[in-house]
Amino acid sequence: MTEHNKTLGEFIINKQAEFKYSSGELSRLINSIRLAGKIVNHEVNKAGLVDILGAAGGENIQGETQQKLDVYANEVFIKTLINREIVCGIASEEEDDFISIKGGNNKNDNKYVVLMDPLDGSSNIDVNVSVGTIFSIYRRVTPSGTPVTLEDFLQPGNQQVAAGYIVYGTSTMIVYSTGHGVNGFTLNPAIGTYYLSHPNMKFPASGNIYSVNEGNYIHFPQGVKDYIKYCQSEEEDRPYTSRYIGSLVSDFHRNMIKGGIYIYPNTSKNRDGKLRLLYECNPMAFLAERAGGKASNGFKRILEIKPTELHQRVPFFCGNKEMVEKAEEFMKKAEKE
Ligand code: AHG
Ligand code: MN
Ligand code: MN
Repeated sequence: MTEHNKTLGEFIINKQAEFKYSSGELSRLINSIRLAGKIVNHEVNKAGLVDILGAAGGENIQGETQQKLDVYANEVFIKTLINREIVCGIASEEEDDFISIKGGNNKNDNKYVVLMDPLDGSSNIDVNVSVGTIFSIYRRVTPSGTPVTLEDFLQPGNQQVAAGYIVYGTSTMIVYSTGHGVNGFTLNPAIGTYYLSHPNMKFPASGNIYSVNEGNYIHFPQGVKDYIKYCQSEEEDRPYTSRYIGSLVSDFHRNMIKGGIYIYPNTSKNRDGKLRLLYECNPMAFLAERAGGKASNGFKRILEIKPTELHQRVPFFCGNKEMVEKAEEFMKKAEKE
């Protein structure tokens, strides 16, 4: 069988066989995510036909308007994970607090917690532009058999066991890593099966795309302004090209394939930027590093930040290693001046 014919189901079973003493819990967990992704995909695909576009009439704890699909995706992922009794806790961008889940035997003895951004890129839902789901998986740190606590969720990103995203784009893909390579699977919607289409994904050695919301330019720190000017200058292999979808998942996905950097910096309005450390930056940083890239807050590795709260935000610089390092150089220089 060629790599291209391999389904995600088969890939998971093969991987499972490589871990002699594993209980299969992680494999079952990823299976549930792939299933929930298919359900959400189905809804996203017919979004223009049914009454699922637009605002749901509420706000999440971060004061952001919830779209109907935000709420729907959140429910699907939570229900799918709860019904399969495979995680002991879930934290979601759309939930005020984490959810504690008892296992099948009512014992709280499942190992893993999941953190997620169920629908990323909400502002693109109504206009037929790619959106996504981001997930991050950790082993609990509190004793098995007891309800999970905040401590289980506030782990630095370097403790992640697995992370990934689903992109609901021109085709639907799930891209994830359990710590070694990053692999991408494309959904064949006719038969509802994901096939391994992008084995061992890596950022190309160099990139020429920068992705940043330049509408916020005047509020950017001087280091980011200087880096943008560097990207636009006519020297060596520059000017770079600018691409910004406004869905982190899609911007990251494109940059990983074509080579680029994504920046959502702190601004004079938002001291910590906009993106969430636990639901967005950590999982993307985990994937970036496994794909040969880099992720930083402008000064420090994202995966080493010790979180202090669930919905914490952080400035985010992520993509090709050399591009992120160059941006860091500008940040450091501007700070000194
Ligand atoms: P979410 O839809 O989960 O709230 O995330 C949106 C995030 C991210 O996906 C995107 O890159 C960024 O917000 C866009 O923000 P701006 O509209 O401020 O550029
Ligand atoms: Mn998001
Ligand atoms: Mn979201």
